[in-house]
Amino acid sequence: MDAFAVEGGARLAGKIPVHGSKNATLPILAACLMAEGPCELRGIPLLRDVQTQVKILNTLGLETSWRGRTITTRQLDHYNNTAPYELVKQMRAGVCVLGPLVAKRGRARVSLPGGCVIGKRPIDLHLRGLEALGAEIAIEHGYIEAKAPPGGLRGAEVYLGGTYGSSVTATENVLSAAALARGTTVIECAACEPEVVDLAGFLCAMGARIEGAGSPRITVRGVKRLRGTRWRVMPDRIEAATFVILAAITGSELTISGARGDHMLAFLDVMRQMGIGVERTPRSLRVLSCPRPRACELVTMPYPAFPTDCQAQVMALAALGEGTSVITERIYPERFMAAAEMSRMGADIDVADGRAVIQGVDHLDGAEVMASDLRASAALVIAAAAARGETWIHRVYHIDRGYERIEERLARIGLRIRRVAE
Ligand code: EPU
Repeated sequence: MDAFAVEGGARLAGKIPVHGSKNATLPILAACLMAEGPCELRGIPLLRDVQTQVKILNTLGLETSWRGRTITTRQLDHYNNTAPYELVKQMRAGVCVLGPLVAKRGRARVSLPGGCVIGKRPIDLHLRGLEALGAEIAIEHGYIEAKAPPGGLRGAEVYLGGTYGSSVTATENVLSAAALARGTTVIECAACEPEVVDLAGFLCAMGARIEGAGSPRITVRGVKRLRGTRWRVMPDRIEAATFVILAAITGSELTISGARGDHMLAFLDVMRQMGIGVERTPRSLRVLSCPRPRACELVTMPYPAFPTDCQAQVMALAALGEGTSVITERIYPERFMAAAEMSRMGADIDVADGRAVIQGVDHLDGAEVMASDLRASAALVIAAAAARGETWIHRVYHIDRGYERIEERLARIGLRIRRVAE
């Protein structure tokens, strides 16, 4: 397992490009299962989670070929409908194949995703949504067994609200399945995330008829078949936000090219609250060098509110801010694993009942810390970049799931970071 050694205190400078969005790529890849004809996806990030999804598709009989950041998918004549435990346990988004499989092939057998360190992550909304379209679903031996009724799925009104609001991947599963269902589906309390809109755009390019993606009500008029198509995946808003915070915490001026600020309004508003200057153009963000950040108060909620996937990174910035910040986590109340590790570096963070109270300190000190999940790992890299001395971040394989060759890219803008095999 690899570690990162980061020597803090360096000023960063220059330009860093944002790659394609992981969380848009994963459901879009799954939707390729429904295409009659090849699909060409461009701007695909070279990530471990993407490789896992590709392996799942290969197991399901989709041939894939890579050319740089472009993946082409092609349906083989022989296929099976089982997404196995060995792959789905590595990445929960493997469950995104469920809707496309049952809609296109009438059958799906998908391993239940495993436990998750960021907290409870049930899939009841996925199942409830597909059942509303007529699928028969049973859980057997750790697998979801789904079967379409004779004649295929049929359109229906589907309510997708849960205790914590809407669900992104449940919306994506039902949206994809509804594209091939007979009749009209209305998804109420749909997730509004830009990644859902990107998937809807891809499905429409395949011939689907979808209105309202990006709003809580999505209407889908089912079509008989979907054709192969070309699509460029949207830029990763979480990666862009991670780079903004990295620039802010190191007092650096940095251009983040390819970023879509219009997808990041709640995040940019928190940056404003903290006194971080960010200039926006339609296709880039420029962080201006700024003094010590001010405290912030934020609550994570479904889009368009502040994203949970940026919470740990902002916590690192608040740890060095002036005064007391309060972060309330409404999506995953247990997602504060970065706090204890940052405390090892001298941060003053109290976590209780889904809330972190962060008392800003003057400095952080390099220490040995452990990465526990993807976004917590990014937060530790951010904290280490500003800390005095060297930080060792162990078990960084998590970061490879969501940030492509991060140490090479960050070294190019001046961060003193190296990967060490342990
Ligand atoms: N939920 C339910 N029932 C369900 C599904 C979800 O109660 O059937 C709850 C969850 O427990 C959670 C809330 O609903 O409290 C929202 O979860 P959601 O289903 O929206 O999460 P997800 O679709 O599994 C996606 C991202 C996550 C991101 C969340 C929230 C992908 C592949 N993953 O997960 O990304 O944190 O939405 O925005 O799109 C990451 O990239 O680091 C990551 C974890």
